[in-house]
Amino acid sequence: MKNLTGRTAVVTGAASGIGQALATRFASEGMQVVMADIEETALAASAKALSSTGASVLPMLTDVSDSKSVDALAEAAYTRFGSVNILCNNAGVGAGGLVSDLKIEDWQWVLGVNLWGVIHGLTSFLPRMLEGGEEGHVVNTASLAGHVSPPFMAPYSASKFAVVALSESLFHELAMQRAKVGVSVLCPGWVNTNIHMSERNRPSALGGGSDSGLHEDDPRAAMLKQVLAAGMAPSDVAALVLGAVHDERFYVLTHPDMTPAIEARAKAIVEGTNPVMQMMG
Ligand SMILES: NC(=O)c1ccc[n+]([C@@H]2O[C@H](COP(=O)([O-])OP(=O)(O)OC[C@H]3O[C@@H](n4cnc5c(N)ncnc54)[C@H](O)[C@@H]3O)[C@@H](O)[C@H]2O)c1
Repeated sequence: MKNLTGRTAVVTGAASGIGQALATRFASEGMQVVMADIEETALAASAKALSSTGASVLPMLTDVSDSKSVDALAEAAYTRFGSVNILCNNAGVGAGGLVSDLKIEDWQWVLGVNLWGVIHGLTSFLPRMLEGGEEGHVVNTASLAGHVSPPFMAPYSASKFAVVALSESLFHELAMQRAKVGVSVLCPGWVNTNIHMSERNRPSALGGGSDSGLHEDDPRAAMLKQVLAAGMAPSDVAALVLGAVHDERFYVLTHPDMTPAIEARAKAIVEGTNPVMQMMG
């Protein structure tokens, strides 16, 4: 998809990190942007900042794990802008631990946002994007953890492997349909965002609250923050996504130095050896 000016992009998880950078980048290409996020204050601030640059922005408070909420997002986007050309199913959360220690709510929360969020986005938007007959592109945010399975990250990796798989299926289907809508799967390594503080958006019904997860003063949060701080800038990720949309490239891997880890996993599978531990970076 080459011509973005005057078209509409919808980005979930747009109040922070990669989503915020995607919204900013699309706006700078002359697109109208629908910014969807569950974090109300951050969303209002991000939308205000982007609007102040002259961009046409619609902020929508959205919980991607709730199909009705994503339906309402689609309705609002189409009502305001008439069509949607780029859909970034990007909202995501990180949580983990030993599988033997995890509670059912840990799995429900992570899969609810990271996997069902993408499914809801596709269900609410894709039929309308195809019917509209305009050029379009879907970008699903997975992760490098959608290709390798480090310890302590089982719910996260499971959700991201699933996003890679459903995106690959969708790629083939869209090609068979000769659709004007393409798809890419974004698989970043470490990026400098707020993902280490994902618990800030965890519902109390799924174990969220003041006692859950990592807090700013937790040494593990500080360590993760350090790793993320050394990661790629979100704006650089957004530039790679823009290039992939432009060139209709499916896989968007941000960290080429991690390719050997993906190769090592594939090699173990085809050679029938046991998994070799691969970390995120
Ligand atoms: N940061 C990394 O190193 C990294 C690496 C690989 C993949 N990713 C993926 O990138 C995506 C963006 O994450 P990020 O790193 O920018 O983190 P981030 O925490 O900075 O941003 C994530 C955004 O998603 C929003 N969100 C959380 N739950 C939501 C829900 N239920 N409904 C709607 N919005 C919700 C948050 O409020 C936040 O604004 C995620 O899918 C994440 O898994 C991140």
